Amino acid sequence: MINIGNSLIEWYTRNKRSLPWRNTKNPYCIWVSEIILQQTRVNQGLNYYFKFIEKYPDIFSLAESTIDELMKVWQGLGYYSRARNMHQTAKDIVNYYNGKFPPEYNDLLKLKGIGEYTASAISSFAFNLSVPVLDGNVYRVLSRLFGIFDSTQTASGKKAFLNKAQEIIINDKPGIFNQAIMEFGAIQCIPKNPDCFICPLKLICFAFEKKQVEDLPVKKKKIIQKLRYFTYIHIIHNEDTFIEKRTQNDIWKFLYQLPLIETKKKVTIEELIQDVSWNLIFQGVNYTIDTNWFRKRHILSHQKLETTIYKVRIKNLNSFLTKNYIKVPVKELNEFSFPRLLVNYLEVVNN
Ligand code: ADE
Repeated sequence: MINIGNSLIEWYTRNKRSLPWRNTKNPYCIWVSEIILQQTRVNQGLNYYFKFIEKYPDIFSLAESTIDELMKVWQGLGYYSRARNMHQTAKDIVNYYNGKFPPEYNDLLKLKGIGEYTASAISSFAFNLSVPVLDGNVYRVLSRLFGIFDSTQTASGKKAFLNKAQEIIINDKPGIFNQAIMEFGAIQCIPKNPDCFICPLKLICFAFEKKQVEDLPVKKKKIIQKLRYFTYIHIIHNEDTFIEKRTQNDIWKFLYQLPLIETKKKVTIEELIQDVSWNLIFQGVNYTIDTNWFRKRHILSHQKLETTIYKVRIKNLNSFLTKNYIKVPVKELNEFSFPRLLVNYLEVVNN
C-alpha cells in the first residue's frame, strides 16, 4: 500500500525547485516569502524577495521603516494591502512579542495580513508544527486524489479538504510534507494537461481512474469585476508636475498618483471640462491641453479600470490651487511610489 505522505516527500526530494526561502527556518524570511507569493508568481517574486530581505533583513528594520519607503520597495508587485499589513504586523511583533514570531497557528492568525494559509505555512515550515497548508495547489491535489467535489469557497468544503490533509500529513515532518504537496500541485498535478503517466500516485488517484482529472477541482464562481473610469491629469509647469497621495480605503492606498478625477461613466475631454471636479482644479487657471492623450484598460482582481491621462500645461502658478497637490520636479518623481500603470506612463513620457 502506498503511503501518500511519504510518496509526496520522496517526489519532492527528487523534483523540487531550489528556492531561497526553502533553505531557511527563519520565520521572518518565510513570512516575507509567503506574503510575496500570495498573489505573485515565483519567478517575479524572487527578485522582490531578494530586494526586500536586503533592505529589511529582520523584523526590526521593517518595523522601523516608513510606509513610504516600504511602498517603494513593493512598487509594481500589486495588492498593496499586503505591504501595509506587513508593516503593521512587524510593529506588533516587535511591540508584543519582543520581535519573535509566535510559533502557534492561532497566535499567528491574529496578526494583520496573516490568514489561514500563511499561519499554517509559518507554523509548519519554520517551527515544524503539524498544521496542514491549504492553497490552490493543495486543493487541486486533494480533490483529484480523493475525489473531493466540495467547493473550496464554503466552510464545509474547506473542512472536507482540511480533514483529508490532516489524515495524510506526516506528523514528524509537517514542514517538508506541506512544501511537498504544494510543489507537487505546482509542478506535477497542474491545472491543465498534467502528465499523469509519470505521476507516482496514479495508481491510487480517484480522478485518474475515473478520467475526471479535468473536472477537478470543481470550478470557482467567476468574480464579477466592477468597472471604474479614471481620468488622470498630468499637469506640467516648467520642470515640475503635481501629485497626490491616495489615503482613502480603496485600491492603492498610500501610493501616489497624478491628480485624479473619477467619473461614473466614460467621458470625453469636452464633457470633463464642464465637470465641477475639473473646475475645482482649474477655475481661473490659464492652461492648454495637449492633443495627444493616453488611454489604457487596467485590470485588477475585482475591478477593471478604464484610464485616460491628459497632459495639461499651466502658464502661471499664481491662480492654481496647489494646496491639494504636492509639487514635484519631474526628475524627482521616482522617489515616490505609484501604481504600475502610472510608473509605465511616466517612464514613457519623461524619457
Ligand atoms: N507559493 C506560495 N508559497 C510557496 C513556497 N513556499 N514555495 C513555492 N511556491 C510557493
